[in-house]
Amino acid sequence: MDVPRQILDADPAFRADVLAGLAAPIPAIPARWLYDRRGSELFEAITDLPEYYLTRTERGLLERHSPDVARIVGKGDAVVEFGSGSSAKTPILLRAVEPSAYVPIDISGEFLRDSAADLQEGFDGLPIYPIEADFMQPVALPREVAALSKLGFFPGSTIGNLVARTAVDLLRTMKETLGVGAWLLIGMDRIKDPELLIRAYDDAAGVTAEFNLNLLHRINAELDGTVPVDAFRHRAIWNDRMSRIEMHLEAQRDVEFTVSGTPFSFRTGSTIHTENSHKYGMRDARLLLRAAGWGVAHEWTDEADQFALILAEAEAPRFAP
Ligand code: AVI
Repeated sequence: MDVPRQILDADPAFRADVLAGLAAPIPAIPARWLYDRRGSELFEAITDLPEYYLTRTERGLLERHSPDVARIVGKGDAVVEFGSGSSAKTPILLRAVEPSAYVPIDISGEFLRDSAADLQEGFDGLPIYPIEADFMQPVALPREVAALSKLGFFPGSTIGNLVARTAVDLLRTMKETLGVGAWLLIGMDRIKDPELLIRAYDDAAGVTAEFNLNLLHRINAELDGTVPVDAFRHRAIWNDRMSRIEMHLEAQRDVEFTVSGTPFSFRTGSTIHTENSHKYGMRDARLLLRAAGWGVAHEWTDEADQFALILAEAEAPRFAP
């Protein structure tokens, strides 16, 4: 039998996640697969949407409070950014902190090197050490920054895309990567009126819908799928018990399709769960950080308390009573 080229070239982890996820009792596909080239472009477009207050609000907080961050942590640290992507908000922080080095970490090498080169143009003389790595695992930082104190930077409320257990694992891993005495500046989205949240994740122009449905196009293109994309619609649901927005793809009619030759069927109204976006109250955020060994030193929010920029300090191990 002739095996289609795209199946041979497909990422085996993508195939394994899709086949297992579609066959699961509650069908779900890990959100990281939303970000192929088209998905990343659509996410960039989401960040400019009027309904998607997160990026705008966090940028405003960074503009207003980066000098406060610099005052608390001091200047001349190494800034280590986790999942730096396009490093869009980084210049605001770097201008205030005036670090001795910048270490962007991202899993996509091409993206990482391009944005490091762009950033270098505005920060002549700043040593930049890009690391292509999965920051969910401890990352060995370059020798050149070993003696510097570290400020980790994890903006965008990306922590919200992880369930609490995985979020704590990641925060603990970051502490290990950054070492003793480190700081972490992290963006976390607040719990708020569900209507505002749903609008942010189901915008009028349909960009988030396209972002979600793009996953089905990707499955068809890369895994020889026959998913009838027009039979599915984007749903954004507020799950109050879990304090999170969930993205789903909901079947509009009974459908049958194959992926890499494996058959699947979905009944009208059944869904594929594609993303979680957890929202945190002030105390939830503190508890999450504390569970991973980070103590909150300071937090800044906007006037409407929509989004929080939190500065945490790695806690030294101590005996608890
Ligand atoms: C990347 N992440 C923080 C976004 C979020 O808000 O959870 C992804 C996203 N999904 C739909 N819109 C934006």
